[in-house]
Amino acid sequence: MAGKPAVLFVCLGNICRSPLAEAAFKAEAARIGLDVDVDSAGIGGWHAGEPPDLRARTVAKRHGADINAYRARKITAQDFRRYSHIVGLDHENLAALKAMRPADATAELSLLLDHVEGRRGEAVADPYYGDEEDFETTWADVTHGAQALARRLVNS
Ligand code: 4NP
Repeated sequence: MAGKPAVLFVCLGNICRSPLAEAAFKAEAARIGLDVDVDSAGIGGWHAGEPPDLRARTVAKRHGADINAYRARKITAQDFRRYSHIVGLDHENLAALKAMRPADATAELSLLLDHVEGRRGEAVADPYYGDEEDFETTWADVTHGAQALARRLVNS
């Protein structure tokens, strides 16, 4: 790939799944020595400026990641030129990304679990109305996706 990769993780609210994907990806990139820009954003702006959901901060902390300083934001048209990879967490997110994609977009769009062998086409379920166990499932899913994507980018 020409230049440094830049990855944007996108879910609906940017307070549960995509901040966790961002944290898991940053940890894996650091571990394998991948130089990459990373951020996350939401399809919607309802939670813009807010920290991640407390349950997301708690599960991240349990797994050694501190996401307390993250702040939610809504995706912009500029993101489609700024990032080389925009990664949706579920099918609705990916459909919304495709619908808003500007004509001069350069970012490659994908679903996070497309990068995981055997899980192509699967969604990371929205844990917002779930419980602690659902957030653990989210953490496991985003970790698998983030590790697979980071390993792909370090080899490209
Ligand atoms: P996320 O979860 O997309 O994983 O951040 C949600 C957060 C907020 C809402 C929906 C999903 N909401 O409707 O406000």
